[in-house]
Parts: sequence; C-alpha cells; structure tokens
Amino acid sequence: MNNDTIRKTLIVAISLCLVCSALISFSAVELRDLQEANKTLDKQTKILSAAGLLVTDKDVSSLFKSIEIKIVNLETGLFDSSISIEDFDESSFSRNPNTSIELTSDTDIALLKRRENFQSIYLHYDNEDLNAIILPVRGYGLWGTMKGYLALESDLKTIIGLEFFDHKETPGLGGEIVNPRWKAIWKGKEVYSDTGDVVISVIKGSVDKGNEKAKYQVDGLSGATITSNGVTNLLSFWLGEMGYGPLIKQIRSMESVDV
Ligand SMILES: Cc1cc2nc3c(=O)[nH]c(=O)nc-3n(C[C@H](O)[C@H](O)[C@H](O)COP(=O)(O)O)c2cc1C
Repeated sequence: MNNDTIRKTLIVAISLCLVCSALISFSAVELRDLQEANKTLDKQTKILSAAGLLVTDKDVSSLFKSIEIKIVNLETGLFDSSISIEDFDESSFSRNPNTSIELTSDTDIALLKRRENFQSIYLHYDNEDLNAIILPVRGYGLWGTMKGYLALESDLKTIIGLEFFDHKETPGLGGEIVNPRWKAIWKGKEVYSDTGDVVISVIKGSVDKGNEKAKYQVDGLSGATITSNGVTNLLSFWLGEMGYGPLIKQIRSMESVDV
C-alpha cells in the first residue's frame, strides 16, 4: 500500500496539528490557576523580602498573614475601603481614564505616561505598632518598566529594602538591580531630607562614606547609568507629591482614616 500520497500526508499533518493544539489548550486551561497562584506567591515573597520578613523555615503564605493590605487614594493619601483588594488591578486602573490621570512631561519623571488614582500598599505591625510600610513602585529603565517594592521603617524615611520583581534590563548590567549585593546596600539609607524633600539617589560610582549626603546615596551600577537613573527617578516619583507623598503626610500626622 502506498503511504506516500498527498492525501495521507495532509491527514497526518492535520491530525498532528489537532492533537497538539488540543494538548496546548488543555494545559493552558489546566495550568492557569497554578500560574496565578505562583504569581501571587512570587509577589508575596518579594513584599516580605523587601521588608526583611522572609525567613527560610516558614512558608510564604503563612508569613504573609502578618501583612495588612490597604487601598490608598493617591490624591488625598487617605485609605479607601470602597475598592476591594480583590478588585484592584494596577495595570487596568492605570490604563483606564476614569481611574487614572495623564502625567505631564514635568511630572512624569519615571516615564509612566499615566498614574492610577489608587494603589494597594502593605503594612506590617509589631503588636500594635507599625513596623514597616511596603509601597509598590515602578518606572522606566533602559529597556522597559522596572516594577518593585520599597519597604520603609516606621519613621517613614529609612529604607528596609528595595526589591524588583519585574524588569527588562540587561543581565550583568541594568539587571544587577536584583543582585543581592546591590540590594543589601539600600538598607538604612534615607529617602527624605530634614526638610521633607525626596533626596535618595543612585549616584555614578561609589558612595563616599565620609560624605554627609552618604545616607541618601547608593552606589551606581557600573555600565548601567541609564538603569541607575531610572531607579532614582522612580523613587523620586513615588515618594513625591504625585506618588505616596500625601499618604506619608497623612500617616505622619496620624490623620489617616478609613473612608
Ligand atoms: C547590549 C547592551 C545592553 C545594555 N544594557 C544596559 C542596561 O540594561 N542598563 C543600562 O543602564 N545600560 C545598558 N547599556 C549601556 C548603555 O547603553 C549606556 O552606555 C550605559 O547606561 C552608560 O552607563 P555608564 O556611564 O555607567 O557606562 C547596554 C549597552 C549595550 C550595548
């Protein structure tokens, strides 16, 4: 029997395509929940890690139970319980004109184009006392948006950690933003000057420890000045008036109330 006919070749090719597409669809559907769960776990890991709360002998989900999530109105700095945490999605809020504002070239230092009017922030308490506040931050590097979490101590100016969970920077250059050695130098740095200005910056080269500004400075990434400047810019944006500035003022003045 001759198998070498166009009809048989087509039957084999089409059958193979059908079987493969069925397998791919099945695994995409079956794995969707698992992928979502992994994304959530990764996010929780980064939040805990930024705040120095990640301990190896405990599982992330149970550690994350100590974190309180709040939605904050970025205009007023007040917590807003009218939006549920489950309904909040940063990327859709920041794209929707009803839930975001367009940034002007003067204000858009992190190159975001639009800024959502609400954000989810994370609080960690020691008994009743605020121990850490963890703020989502993002901004453009060289190749794309770098997304991360900045954790501050209860004085709302001393850094506990800065953890990026998503970026497109080049491994070995801008990609060093996730290098544990570089991440470690953020601890103890301060973000605001005594007059309340955002002064934290990634400088070019190494920080001179004798310099009075050293507590506001972080060593630059060599060969990656554009990424380094992107990190400075995103922190300036999110800690400033267009970002969490109003929230930080509210918490400082103890006027932060649920609405
Ligand atoms: C393939 C390639 C990838 C690069 N990736 C980065 C990067 O991720 N971040 C960055 O700031 N610069 C990157 N650069 C270098 C920039 O073009 C630029 O030269 C650099 O930011 C200047 O930093 P320096 O003043 O510390 O040398 C890359 C360059 C090349 C050729």
